[in-house]
Formats: sequence, C-alpha cells, structure tokens
Amino acid sequence: MKINPYYQNLETSYLFSTIAHKVNAYQKAHPDAPLIRLGIGDVTLPLVPVVVDALRQAAAEQGVKETFRGYGDEQGYDFLRQAIQGYYAGRGVALAMEEIFISDGAKSDLGNILDLFAQENTVLIPDPVYPVYVDTNIMANRKVVFADATEENGFLPLPDPAVKADLIYICSPNNPTGAAYDRAGLQKWVDYARDNGAVILYDAAYECFITDANLPRSIFELEGAKECAIEFCSFSKMAGFTGTRCGYTVVPTALADGMLQKMWRRRQTTKFNGVPYIVQRAAEAVFTEQGQKEIHASLAYYQQNAKILSDTLTALGIWYTGGQNSPYLWLKCPDGMESWTFFDYLLEKAHLVGTPGAGFGRNGVNFFRLTAFGDQEKTLEAAARLKQLL
Ligand code: MLT
Repeated sequence: MKINPYYQNLETSYLFSTIAHKVNAYQKAHPDAPLIRLGIGDVTLPLVPVVVDALRQAAAEQGVKETFRGYGDEQGYDFLRQAIQGYYAGRGVALAMEEIFISDGAKSDLGNILDLFAQENTVLIPDPVYPVYVDTNIMANRKVVFADATEENGFLPLPDPAVKADLIYICSPNNPTGAAYDRAGLQKWVDYARDNGAVILYDAAYECFITDANLPRSIFELEGAKECAIEFCSFSKMAGFTGTRCGYTVVPTALADGMLQKMWRRRQTTKFNGVPYIVQRAAEAVFTEQGQKEIHASLAYYQQNAKILSDTLTALGIWYTGGQNSPYLWLKCPDGMESWTFFDYLLEKAHLVGTPGAGFGRNGVNFFRLTAFGDQEKTLEAAARLKQLL
C-alpha cells in the first residue's frame, strides 16, 4: 500500500479546525471568558418556518407506503431543479434542466469537480482564498499559480494575459474578502477563459447578499460564460442550511460541447446517491413566495450585523473591504500587526474570535476576517468591545 504522498504538502489541519482547537483550548483554560465567535461563517438563525413545514411534511410522506420514496432522481428531483431554473430565469438567465445538478453543498462539489480534469492542468487561484480550492488541488498535486488580491486592486484581481491557466477559481462576493466583481471585471475573466480555453469554477455561495443591482449574481449573466464556466451555489448561507446540507452545480451544455456535463453526470451517478428527499423539499420551499419573504428577513438580519461591524470599523478608521453585498468584513490589522498575532490579541483582550487572514493565503498576512452571521446582540457587544480595545 502506498499512501497519497501529496497530503503531506497540506497544512496539518483545515483552517477552521485549527481555529476551533485554539479557541476550545482557550475556553478550557478560561471557562468564564464571555467569548463571542465571529470566526467561521456559520449561520445562527434557525431555518425559516416555511422550510421547517416542508421538512415535516416530507418526513410524514416518507412514513407512508403510498408516498414513500427511496433512491431519488440522479441529478436531483425535478421539482427542485425547476425551482432553481425559475430562480435564474428571474434574473434573465435561462438554464436547461439537464444543466442543474443537486448536491449536498458547494464545498463538496468544488472539490469533487476536480475528478473531471487531468492532473497536468495549471490552476489559477486568487490569494487570499477559501482554503478548499487550494487544498483540493494540493491533494492531487496540481500546479497552482496565484493571482494576487491586494489592497491596491481592492482584492479584485484581473487576469494577467502573461499567465496561462487551465482552471480558474473565482468566488464573488468573495470569501474571505467580501469584495464583489462588477460586470466589467467579471467579463474580463470570462473573455480571458475563452481566449485560453480555460474553465472558470465560479463559487456563487454568497450571491444572495448582493443588493447592488449593478453586480452580477451569476456568472451566466455575462456574455459567453456558458462556454467557459461551471457555477456552484449553496443553500447554506442563503437559507441557513449549513447543518441541513443542500446545494447545486450548473454545468452548461455549451461547455466543451457537453462533455463536462456528461462526465459530471457519470461521476455523480457513480460516487453520489443524492440529497435526501426531505431536504430537497425543504430547499424547494425556499423558492416559494413565502419562502423568499422569510429568507429575506433572515438575510436582512445578517446585513444589519454587517452594517454594525462596518460602521464600527469606519468609526475606528480601520481599512476594510466587504460588509456590503457580503456577510464578511476583511480588515487591515491595526499597527501593522500580523493576523495570527491580532487573533491572539483579540481573543485575550476582548474575548473575540475572528479568522486570521494568513489562513487564506500570503496576501492575508496583515488582514483579518469577521463574519456577520453572528447573533445580533453579540455582534453589538463585539462592536462595543472593538471600540474599547482599538
Ligand atoms: C467560512 O467560514 O469560510 C465558511 O463557513 C466556509 C464554508 O462555507 O465552508
């Protein structure tokens, strides 16, 4: 037996596991410290009532012989794929049913999609970035080149024609920086991908936070994108499904003459048995009129948290991106501090937990991420503590 040697090239543990261990150790040593966690982007509001009703009803159906369902349709149930089709149609994007694949979340699909691509592809990843893109490519020993996202370019790098890449990751609104591409910026990436025969792996997990009508919510709003992009999305942040698990991936028929769509279907039918019926019914409920009303109330709550945090950073004169059209705030650590030092400083002096920018790449060494997914009372308290400490 030979193990995959490339796992040794990874950090010993996944970023959010490292942070959880550090915070748990601190809490154990200081059991009375009133910690506020604004680190991992996990939601704190419960599932909305219409989703819970759908779960209950579907669970009841599963207990009756006449309505019981076993293995589901291979790409996900038609009722959910149609609802997603309608969601895209609402913003002028026409998707065919065969282009939509239901999954248990964007993270798994973003990793699993690599099964479709040869090992010798060069991968272009912005830095800083959601660690999953880098780690999954390290596991396969693929060559990774980085596009520098910096304060100077507003953390929105544009393609460099001198750099050749075959696979390109883009997340907009971005995790971790909260920065979002406008149409012109994203079109540049689409044009670059088409010119180079590259494929863009577009992570749209935070599209529901976009309020500015000038920003694209799907890459397929741009001309030519269906010939060069795969889009990943999730119900996690949109409807609080981080523990319920559901997402979807759009693999266009126009991409590589339908070859990648055919391969993804082949891959999924071989290695994946679908998302539970009850969860797909819950996801369907998100797209009903009532569902949209209810999830928008939850999103507004998180947007309010983002405003509380951005107002605080503005008042403190701290440079940041995000907070608008995004649930993340990406701030420059004060006094030139490095991000892990700032992490310890905030933890010890204010009992606040955030995410050190260094965990997202070398361009994050002096930056720090806060999430707006916390409880509002605690976010207000966190803002007060930041004002007092900094
Ligand atoms: C994060 O904090 O970056 C997110 O929770 C990551 C994820 O959605 O997996």
